Formats: sequence, structure tokens, C-alpha cells
Amino acid sequence: MTNNPSIIIAIDGYSSSGKSSMAKALARTIGYRYIDSGAMYRAVALYAMRNGMISPDGIVDEEKLTASLPDIEINFNVDSDKQYTMLNGEDVENEIRQLAVSNNVSQVATIPAVRHALVNMQQKFGNEKGIVMDGRDIGTTVFPTAEMKVFVNASAETRAQRRYKELTEKGIETSYNEVLANVKHRDYLDETRAESPLRRADDAIDLDNSTMTIEEQNQWLLNIYNSTIENLKS
Ligand code: DC
Repeated sequence: MTNNPSIIIAIDGYSSSGKSSMAKALARTIGYRYIDSGAMYRAVALYAMRNGMISPDGIVDEEKLTASLPDIEINFNVDSDKQYTMLNGEDVENEIRQLAVSNNVSQVATIPAVRHALVNMQQKFGNEKGIVMDGRDIGTTVFPTAEMKVFVNASAETRAQRRYKELTEKGIETSYNEVLANVKHRDYLDETRAESPLRRADDAIDLDNSTMTIEEQNQWLLNIYNSTIENLKS
């Protein structure tokens, strides 16, 4: 693999489409760094919640949050198989996955100053290439010239089912209907926000993984990577 060119891999798609798992698996297989850009938006949402910048009905104090952005540092710690999101040096990996954060994060992600700050950080992670990043706007805004772009989709029901399973396995109490409503609401916010909405890049390769197993989708992604590298070499 050492003679292979080092590239940027952008994996975008709807929430809970399984893109993070496949992006992580690919990064591990090919020895790349994996960055979960959604975790960065979640960390900012958590910061805003902790600092009283989000009202109980989900209204974000945009001015206060924008002024605090220079005080927010996000990093990732890698420990054997797992990656931990660090907010100002604190491991917040579990907390950012809670439903309370999921319910507020899309609002936070609509704020242009938040997006600019995070896109900036994300582009720095990509300076040395050899990176797999997943999110909503990676192939369109963060790395429009990425050598490999994939857009992942699955039905809202399939995604809600997966998310529900994941949350209950973690001991987080919720109902399938609540998760489905959250998934649909986030799709709506992701698609309709003014600043870099969720949109498939024109040169992305589509994947609908509704009926695929995890092994099948991982293999599919690895095949795309291998053919991308072959094309770049030829
Ligand atoms: O992938 P996720 O569910 O962890 O993402 C959390 C939220 O962050 C989701 O509502 C969309 C937003 N997001 C974004 O706007 N842009 C990204 N690149 C990644 C996530």
C-alpha cells in the first residue's frame, strides 16, 4: 500500500445512514485517519447547552455562541479501536450521543459562524491527506476536490430502526417513534438550512444501503477505494 497516493475521502449522507461505521471501518483497513464531522457539531451543541445558550424550546443564542467560538477547541483521541471526541480537553464522546444533544444539534449546525469555524478546523485535519471524513457537506463544501466522494442513503424507517437499536444497546431510554420523529426532523433541517445544506456532490457515488449488511457495505466501500486508487495511478 505504500506506493498508493494519499487521498481525501468524503462520505456524506443522511443521519443514521451508517456512514460513520463504514467510514471508520475503511479508515482502519487502509490506515487512514478518520474524522467524524458530526461529532464536532455535537460538541459545539453540548458546549452551548452547558453554557445556557439554548432555551428549553431549542432557540439558540446565536450571538453568544458566535462570540464563544474562539474558546471552543475540538479534538479526537484515538485509543485502539475507539475514537473519543474531546471538547476543551474533556472526553465528551458519550454525552454528545445523547438524545438531548441530538435534538439541539441541527439548530446549532444552521448557524453560519459555527459552520465557518468547523469547516476551517476540518480543512486543517485534511492538510496532509490520508483522511476519511464523514458528514453532510464534506464533498461539497469542506473538500470539494476530494479524490473520492460517496453519498449514503437509506429509508428514514431503516435509519430510525438502526438508531433505536444503537441507543437501547447503550442503555439510553427512548422509543422507536421518538427516534423516527428525530430522524425525520433532522433530515428536514439538514436539507433546508441556508448555509451548506445536505446535498449530494455532483461527482459523488451513490450508495443506498437499506438492504445491505455491515460487511457488504464495508466491502462495497473498499472496492470503490481500490478502483479510485487504480484510476489515479493509471
Ligand atoms: O452525523 P450526526 O448525526 O452525528 O450529525 C449531527 C448533526 O450535525 C446533524 O444534525 C447534522 C449536522 N452536521 C452538519 O451539519 N454538517 C456536517 N458536516 C456534519 C454534521
